[in-house]
Amino acid sequence: MRPLLHTIAVVPPGLEEAAAAELVELGAEQPRLLRRAVGFDCDKATFYRVHLRARLPFRLLRELASFPCHSRDELYDGIQRAIDWEHWLPPEHSFRVDATGSAPGLNHSHYCALQVKNALVDWQRSRWGARSSVDLEQPDLSLHLHLGGGMASLSVDGAGASLHRRGYRPAMGLAPLKENLAAGLIRLTGWDGTVPLADPMCGSGTLLIEAAAMALGRATGLDASGQPRDLALRRWHDFESGVWQQELEAANRERRDALPDGRSLNAVVGSDADSAVIEQARANADAAGVRPWLTLHNGHCRDFEPPPGQGILVCNPPYGERIGSGDDLEQLYGDLGAMAKERCSGWTLWLLSGNPELTGALRMKASRRIPVSNGGIDCRWLRYEIR
Ligand SMILES: C[S@@+](CC[C@H](N)C(=O)[O-])C[C@H]1O[C@@H](n2cnc3c(N)ncnc32)[C@H](O)[C@@H]1O
Repeated sequence: MRPLLHTIAVVPPGLEEAAAAELVELGAEQPRLLRRAVGFDCDKATFYRVHLRARLPFRLLRELASFPCHSRDELYDGIQRAIDWEHWLPPEHSFRVDATGSAPGLNHSHYCALQVKNALVDWQRSRWGARSSVDLEQPDLSLHLHLGGGMASLSVDGAGASLHRRGYRPAMGLAPLKENLAAGLIRLTGWDGTVPLADPMCGSGTLLIEAAAMALGRATGLDASGQPRDLALRRWHDFESGVWQQELEAANRERRDALPDGRSLNAVVGSDADSAVIEQARANADAAGVRPWLTLHNGHCRDFEPPPGQGILVCNPPYGERIGSGDDLEQLYGDLGAMAKERCSGWTLWLLSGNPELTGALRMKASRRIPVSNGGIDCRWLRYEIR
């Protein structure tokens, strides 16, 4: 029988269904929707593939063991017996432990993590007379403990760092979207590169860069020159370099300068009122290797000229939590609505709203409202048909 890895993808709240669909496209089996996560099974090739190509997850956790846990002692003993630590954690490898959930006597995540760490270093000392060091920044092994329902689940993080940091964004404007959230929002619009895409308040360009990268098959785990990011899974004792190499080559083969059917990518256009931020968007698009497909300029959204055709407007306007305030913002939303109706008739607008009072100033009625969370702020991804 094919050994399957039980995996959890940690995803932005609200994107669970979209993330499950993406993971299934990449070969995940038995997807299970959880809160802020998707559980699935996969073989090793798929596990490597989702690390290289999935756009929506923050993290991909491989479950190593699960055992009943109702007390501190059960946690300590359970961890020592959970897996073959001889292979997973030799003393020359560093590690870190993060914990979530609770069990009797184990209510503080920090304490739970400490209990796991103690169980591991005690085990190592008795086996080797030496122990691993804890490294919070770049550990060789990044362990996650989840406690709940009388069970402990111990997992290991395949990347070792958050996958939303693609590495193309040294420059960020105010309140940038996380890359994986931006990718998820684009996925929800259904845009596939065949119609124009425009963002009249594009900031550092995250929505457009993620959209172009998606349409042109740029794998999230590869840099612009096709080199893979440093993933912790490559240091695991059961890493299979042949399987990895095949997945790496397949991810590189996906990379195109056109759509999958050979047609050219339609216009991808952004503008922003802040000229410094537009410079950042250009630098980011360059670093992501999609600069030739993006048209970026400086300007107020009321003067925005959409590209020819009928396409999709996406927009993440300020909503007062982090930038902008009161009357100015109502005026801004009013300007955006007026521009859309005047120049983008027949287009669809998707707008990320963190403040329902402001969206009223658009003077349009949303046809869909998808709840999502943006950095802990409760938002709606709103769809409008522009008449
Ligand atoms: C929340 S940020 C967008 C962040 C962007 N999604 C990113 O990931 O970087 C809102 C942007 O709206 C821009 N903005 C504010 N008022 C504007 C206006 N009147 N016309 C065009 N852009 C405007 C700001 O300069 C800012 O970059």
